[in-house]
Amino acid sequence: MPRSVVTIDDLTNDEVEAIFRLADRFLEEMSTPGKPYRIQGRSPRAEDRILATVFYEPSTRTRLSFESAMHRLGGQVISCPDGGSTSSAKGESIADTVRVIENYADVIVIRHSWEGAARVAADYADVPVINAGDGSHEHPTQTLCDLYTLRVGQRQKSAENVEKPLNELLKELTIVLSGDLKHGRTVHSLVYALARFGARIIPLPATEEYDFPDHVRHRLARDYNCFPITKEDVHGESLPANVLYITPEKPHQLSLWQSKEDDFKVQLTSRDQRSIKGIKGVDVFYATRLQIERKDDDASQPEYPVIDTEFLKKKPFKKSRVMHPLPRVDELSYDMDSDARGIYFQQAAYGVPVRMALMSALLELAPGLATPDNIASRYPEYSRDDGLRCTNRRCVTNKESERRYLSPRFLILDDPQLTVRCVYCDHEHHPQVISRSTTRKYLTDTSQIREIQPENLVLFANEEAAQSAGHEPRKTR
Ligand code: NCD
Repeated sequence: MPRSVVTIDDLTNDEVEAIFRLADRFLEEMSTPGKPYRIQGRSPRAEDRILATVFYEPSTRTRLSFESAMHRLGGQVISCPDGGSTSSAKGESIADTVRVIENYADVIVIRHSWEGAARVAADYADVPVINAGDGSHEHPTQTLCDLYTLRVGQRQKSAENVEKPLNELLKELTIVLSGDLKHGRTVHSLVYALARFGARIIPLPATEEYDFPDHVRHRLARDYNCFPITKEDVHGESLPANVLYITPEKPHQLSLWQSKEDDFKVQLTSRDQRSIKGIKGVDVFYATRLQIERKDDDASQPEYPVIDTEFLKKKPFKKSRVMHPLPRVDELSYDMDSDARGIYFQQAAYGVPVRMALMSALLELAPGLATPDNIASRYPEYSRDDGLRCTNRRCVTNKESERRYLSPRFLILDDPQLTVRCVYCDHEHHPQVISRSTTRKYLTDTSQIREIQPENLVLFANEEAAQSAGHEPRKTR
């Protein structure tokens, strides 16, 4: 299987660095005089290659910067900018669509509103697939642009920083992630990467309702040893993790918006030297828009805070650079545009060199990716047609056209309470019943899961589901 990028975890930290070194080379060779972030001209390395962009959701930056990147590499582009114009409108599945497109292109970039859609595309295509956003799930290439922008900013701070690897640069970074953390796919991929690289993360949702969802917080803890640290924890003797993810106690988390600078200071001037030492203020303020298209109908319309030059007069933000994946609506004032701290247009410009580098690596036109398949999941996988299904209605496995052929797939997480994670959308489930496909006798004591051969294991949400599938309780002596 070719290497694809569906989640940010499909690239190791070393591979991200290698891609950035390649992006540096493109900028050195091809940047516009006076605008070091902007590529011009062509560097024909991919002359015989074709990119297909298949977008089922609106896009300006992502699609056009991918297409521009392929043109700059000397390649060709074919595009479906509007999913409604593809055969999906006639009920065609994602698997069929990509098995057709793979004959027309060497790399496919896909954006879809269903969570896990890019995973399906990558599983069925025999060319590399790049996820350009799948619902609220992930947007890994926006994260590459974000990390590259953060790297430029950290390098500009001192001459010695230029030599430092990304993990050292990001370990010194304190970043606020603000806005719609619940639905924003850009902040999901970004927070995983920041955790992996060891940055100090301060989540600042628009309201509590828009905080990171449980599955994101659990993945931060399980996969990256990244735990929230409340104000009380910070005053304690030890921290549970080497990565800091600061969540000021509520309602302080939100009080920042009401300009109570003091809450913030308390949090940053902790006695815990190990983690808090050296934090003088916020290096980067990452704003995002309310993802209105993904909001549940019954969710309240939050009073969304606005980042403007007034807000940034507060002490912790005096030197903060302001980033935004764009598009902005009302949350980022136009008065920031003339402020040197606003770097969101550069961030968007880096989309071209970064995506040139990523495509060059995936197409094996340049070194960058270590081996074809060096990313192995650390959790055992479970997949069956009968038994447990993902209950996230936005998950690709619950869509009419995809249910015909997709089996539910879960990673079995090592937990006291049996927890599984949907491979497609990351949502977690707690099956209450384990059974054997051979005997169809089930147990409600899920701690016995290791007693069952993996190939015979059937998981059910509860006893009712097990019984309606023809399984019976196992009599215990
Ligand atoms: C983002 C997206 O599509 O998730 N846009 C982008 O790709 N830069 C952010 C957004 O739409 O809010």
